Amino acid sequence: MKKIILLGYMGCGKSTIAKKLAESLEIPFVDLDEKIEEKANLSINAIFDTHGEIYFRKLEHQVFVELVNSPQKLIIGLGGGTPCYANNHELLNGDGVVSIYLKASIQTLFNRLSVNKSKRPLIADKNELEMKGFIATHLFERSFYYNQAQYKVVVDDKSIDAVVKDIVSILA
Ligand code: S3P
Repeated sequence: MKKIILLGYMGCGKSTIAKKLAESLEIPFVDLDEKIEEKANLSINAIFDTHGEIYFRKLEHQVFVELVNSPQKLIIGLGGGTPCYANNHELLNGDGVVSIYLKASIQTLFNRLSVNKSKRPLIADKNELEMKGFIATHLFERSFYYNQAQYKVVVDDKSIDAVVKDIVSILA
């Protein structure tokens, strides 16, 4: 297996868990959002502000394809929307790919995102009430794509180490 792909809604813990998993498996981790920022030489917020979401989604697709097709073993942490655009979900079941959906409840996501939204253009301007409704609807719309992953790990009320352990046993 060459690529381990972690996906899930904003705030489900993809980057934090991927970093720990990378240490434990000694496989390098790349964060798709960071790669996009490097390529555009702009922050995610600035890409949305300057060029708009469609431009971001095109870039996201391009960088994701490049990473999946790169020769080295990698753990790839996707952005929350990656599987839901440009048929990216089809890459979740490609050759040499293991894809894992980190599933979090609306409440968990709300708790985490309400204190951590400034770098996330889709929710940065929403108040608490708007956020809850937005997350519920958005998660529902996106679930079809998230469920294309080969495996699912529920992250609610679990420590990072416990989630990493679950993933390691899936990969064993
Ligand atoms: C997005 C999630 C973000 C980032 C962008 C769009 C989304 O990544 O790619 O703001 O559509 O859910 P995180 O899930 O890492 O916050």
